[in-house]
Amino acid sequence: MTLSGKRVLLIISGGIAAYKSLDLIRRLRERGASVRPIMTASAQEFITPLAVGALAASHVYLDLFSREDEQDVGHIRLARECDLIVVAPATANVMAKMAQGLAEDLASTVLLAADRPVLVAPAMNPKMWAHPATQRNVATLKQDGIHFIGPKAGEMAESGESGMGRMAEPLEIVATIEAMLEDQPKPLKGRTAIVTSGPTHEPIDPVRYIANRSSGKQGHAIASALASLGADVTLVSGPVIIADPAGVKTIHVERAEEMRDAVLSLLPADIAVMVAAVADWRVASASGQKIKKQPGDAPPSLVLAENPDILKTVGHHEKRPRLVIGFAAETQNVEDNGRAKLARKGADLIVANDVSPETGIMGGERNHVTLISQDGTEHWPDMDKNSVAEQLARKIASLLALS
Ligand code: CTP
Repeated sequence: MTLSGKRVLLIISGGIAAYKSLDLIRRLRERGASVRPIMTASAQEFITPLAVGALAASHVYLDLFSREDEQDVGHIRLARECDLIVVAPATANVMAKMAQGLAEDLASTVLLAADRPVLVAPAMNPKMWAHPATQRNVATLKQDGIHFIGPKAGEMAESGESGMGRMAEPLEIVATIEAMLEDQPKPLKGRTAIVTSGPTHEPIDPVRYIANRSSGKQGHAIASALASLGADVTLVSGPVIIADPAGVKTIHVERAEEMRDAVLSLLPADIAVMVAAVADWRVASASGQKIKKQPGDAPPSLVLAENPDILKTVGHHEKRPRLVIGFAAETQNVEDNGRAKLARKGADLIVANDVSPETGIMGGERNHVTLISQDGTEHWPDMDKNSVAEQLARKIASLLALS
């Protein structure tokens, strides 16, 4: 049984999708997990504690101020005596309380006292999900390290409206729980890693800058993947709109020179993965004032100066990390150019990709990479950026184990 001996604390909040939580309990127990349920007051409007308790074969916790329950286990122990907390369904209201740190009923108090991983399965009307307030809360919770599954697109049970907001199916939630509770080896425990990600912005004047199309998705995913293998990761990120990854320390910078300073301040480290699309040039003397156009004037010319090459600096540094990995963004001759970069930058490995516009890689969700090292060339199939990150993190762990 895949979840044998695992203890799940299941928080059911008030939504029509609560009926699916009954099935979720059954599926979890089938796989050997024990389930301790907490229901909010509004959940009890949709399903009964009797049904929940019968399926879970457990007492159902309902009230923060229940004298018996507090004597029996108490809300702090409820939060701790489990391997994972699952909130399914999670309403917009519960997520808002979690994001704010409110503790005004048993469910929100337990969530605030929790020191275990938390998985949230949102379910709500599509308009509520899309509302900027909910999206802000989701972003905050992700930054806090809360895991999400769903919602999915589909038809709403109550209103017939369709859109994003359906709770993930119980079996999908179970699969996520299994993945989260799998006893993952931590081969990078005790190792430190620096990852750069995103573009840099090179100012022209106080309001204008030179930039590129990098989204930061690949670099951020690599930082996360290294952290989940146990590494102590610092991410140095240029300006991006995606959230800081959970479990990683993030330093925000804007210009290439700032990125270089941040990276050098983090040496020594065991691993450096330079994913950022660092601008090769900056404006030699950025104007302190907004450049105005005067009637009849010719357009201004920009004089550029070369930026520091951060990867090359790290690759040749006296405190060089054991493993230095660079990316090569190419639009032609990917392998030859990648191999030339390996030597020039003093890297152990170059992850080369074709960023021609038709590949959709720059800014997109997928990546198709070729790994170039002294030992040869490895072509990886096209896959999403998280999978590239996970495989690269495993590769890094095995390279370090060999060195
Ligand atoms: N890089 C860096 N600092 C720079 C430029 C690039 O650290 N100033 C790093 C990138 O993070 C990446 C690798 O170098 O890991 C290669 O980046 P890329 O833009 O492909 O190469 P360039 O050095 O800019 O070479 P070219 O413009 O000739 O392709």
